[in-house]
Amino acid sequence: MSYQTLLYSINNRVATVIVNRPDKLNALNAQAKSELKMVFSEIKTDNAVDIVVLTGAGEKAFVAGTDIKELTVLNSETGKEVSSKGQEVFDLIENLGKPVIAAVNGYALGGGCELALACHIRIASANAKFGQPEVNLGIIPGYGGTQRLARLIGRGRAMELILTGAQIDAEEALRIGVVNKVVPQPELMATVTKLARLIAGKGQVAIRMALKAVNMTQETTLSDGQQLEASLFAICCDTADFKEGTTAFLEKRPPQFKNA
Ligand code: COA
Repeated sequence: MSYQTLLYSINNRVATVIVNRPDKLNALNAQAKSELKMVFSEIKTDNAVDIVVLTGAGEKAFVAGTDIKELTVLNSETGKEVSSKGQEVFDLIENLGKPVIAAVNGYALGGGCELALACHIRIASANAKFGQPEVNLGIIPGYGGTQRLARLIGRGRAMELILTGAQIDAEEALRIGVVNKVVPQPELMATVTKLARLIAGKGQVAIRMALKAVNMTQETTLSDGQQLEASLFAICCDTADFKEGTTAFLEKRPPQFKNA
């Protein structure tokens, strides 16, 4: 499938999705949101893809938010629809069943910050800036940001970012746990690709079970989460990858996983 607002490629089981509206700092218009839904739906069922890298075109922005021009016409009815549809797209990413790494290469503001939060791992370039500036426009984050940011960094810090609309730089984002790592911009894509390759080299059944188990911490009690963990652990124990992983360890050789 071809896209107007995205660039999409697959290289050796790693898919790369680039939001491609650099003249608008990759702001998400309706078409970009709809295409994100299409591409991630395609990836979900594509057996040729194990892991996804998501980034923005150019060197200035990951995604500078929802397209503000399109927000101006909203009322309570259409606003609810836009928020729910955006949440649906970002939920699809979070629950893709395959790891998604955000390579945050610049501004990640508003919906852009929320998009990064829906990914499973965030690596930022040193020039990246994060923030939820929606209150400056008289609205609040509407694509899961109030929920995911608080779960990721705690209610107090999320509250401060959301109530002030302030931007933070990459080092501060690292300090408070918004991102996993910060690297110089020229090294961003190589770092993320190396990480993607590292994860792609594991048995993918175990990777998918791990994603599911850790994602579930957002939704459940410790006891229910542990029950799920035991069930997912059990599924792994029936796989050829488990036999191969343990045998390879004992034979002191690298494992050759079959993803089954
Ligand atoms: N929606 C629509 N257009 C946007 C946008 C957004 N969220 N963010 C940037 N753009 C557009 C600008 O309007 C401008 O377009 P133009 O050249 O046609 O005028 C272009 O992208 C470049 O942005 P500009 O503001 O000139 O760049 P800058 O370096 O001076 O500032 C930002 C960068 C990110 C600080 C600034 O663009 C900004 O504050 N953007 C909005 C961020 C925001 O509030 N996001 C949340 C929306 S809910």
